Amino acid sequence: VQGGCLSIVILGASGDLAKKKTFPAVFNLFRQGFLPEHQLQFFGYARSRLSDQELRDRLRGYLKAGGTDPSKDAATVINHFLSLVTYTSGAYDTEEGFIKLNEIISFHEVAKGGKEGPTRRLFYLALPPSVYPVVCKLIRQHCMNQRGWTRVVVEKPFGKDLASAEALSNQLGELFTEDQLYRIDHYLGKEIVQNLLVMRFANRIFVPIWNRDNIANIQIVFKEDFGTEGRGGYFDEYGIVRDIIQNHLLQVLCLVAMEKPVTLTPEHIRDEKVKVLKAIESIKDKDVVLGQYDTYKDDPTVAPNSTTPTFATVVLRINNERWDGVPFILKAGKALDSRKAEIRVQFKDTPGDIFKCKKQGRNELVMRLQPSEAMYMKVTQPGLEMSATQSELDLSYHQRYQDIVIPEAYERLILDTIRGDQQHFVRRDELKVAWQIFTPLLHRIEEGKLPLINYKYGSRGPLEADELTEREGYVRTSGYIWIPSSLK
Ligand code: BG6
Repeated sequence: VQGGCLSIVILGASGDLAKKKTFPAVFNLFRQGFLPEHQLQFFGYARSRLSDQELRDRLRGYLKAGGTDPSKDAATVINHFLSLVTYTSGAYDTEEGFIKLNEIISFHEVAKGGKEGPTRRLFYLALPPSVYPVVCKLIRQHCMNQRGWTRVVVEKPFGKDLASAEALSNQLGELFTEDQLYRIDHYLGKEIVQNLLVMRFANRIFVPIWNRDNIANIQIVFKEDFGTEGRGGYFDEYGIVRDIIQNHLLQVLCLVAMEKPVTLTPEHIRDEKVKVLKAIESIKDKDVVLGQYDTYKDDPTVAPNSTTPTFATVVLRINNERWDGVPFILKAGKALDSRKAEIRVQFKDTPGDIFKCKKQGRNELVMRLQPSEAMYMKVTQPGLEMSATQSELDLSYHQRYQDIVIPEAYERLILDTIRGDQQHFVRRDELKVAWQIFTPLLHRIEEGKLPLINYKYGSRGPLEADELTEREGYVRTSGYIWIPSSLK
């Protein structure tokens, strides 16, 4: 891994994403000693006219120094971090700002590491994608590192459909090579998602059963118990399929369904992800339920006649030897009854049942991404008088690994960028297939060809979605409710 002075440049520094996610993530890497303290500088760039101090004051409230080295107190660490932050104000579409930014970065590089030796420049675009092309062009023209690598991190939405995504990819592809571009999907940085390949391929018990012979259906679920509060302007243009399903849930599906990669190199892993995506059949209307919560249009930033879905269940079918006949049910919704994200792998019934009693459910492996990471397996146990009851083999991370701090998704992914590891980033061809899968459906939704079902804020979502899931063979556990220890 190349060393040298590290400059982290956050464009859109005065915005919400930078304040809430990007700066806190780099701060956490800093306080845990992952960044080179003496050869490090952070640069904020945005249009607002702010002084260095004003930006620092805005950021301070979002930095939490929990778990810091006890020899330094929290305020000292935060102050030290903030002293390394400078701010440059400028437009996103004119040269002056970027020329100035380059001068400031170069000045700090020389001050911290001298005129010789390698340097590193990471540009994080916490910006709306509409300005990606122009900003990338100006970085390319004025801010490229002459003494080492330049890497650019971009975040979804990467376009609105296949054509616009390809246009954006072409524009960025002319400016940067694939190994300079890091397309972030923060779900790939979540602990349980990162563990999926190890779980699947390093455990002999799972390897032979992970297929259509044993698995009845797989659900990948995202629920939020709040609406689009404050983000209606963005959300109304994109909808739940583009916001969550086409990227976050589809990425998770890839890791659940892909074949074993030849090695763990990023290219081999991503080759397998692309392969499984290419085997997904086109989506039929009967496999989709869309909803919108009842008070969505009360948000003043949402169009009064909006038909944007805030809920969707979409069944994907993978046409290959492993998965033929196994529905992958992707469900995402805002303003539902709880906040959680989980993968549920439901197994088929045991053939030749000798217990002849009403079973409470099937074997099911649940991997909960949030809240409180956990994996548990629903198994049938002997109850009193030889009846069979259901119970759980429970691996709740916070209980089992009590002294371990699980890093935030953005922290891991930014560290991966510094280390040059693209394993957990979306490759261009992967993005293209993801859009190929969803674009025809998205166009039909926009043409009003699918019903949009109204559901109550705080409910389970449309009843029709549960009916679809049941039709696809999902059997709900009955007769008891178990609350995992990690949620108590
Ligand atoms: C973002 C979506 O990508 O992910 C948001 O744009 C959503 O709408 C968020 O709320 C959820 O992320 P997390 O990590 O809180 O599950």
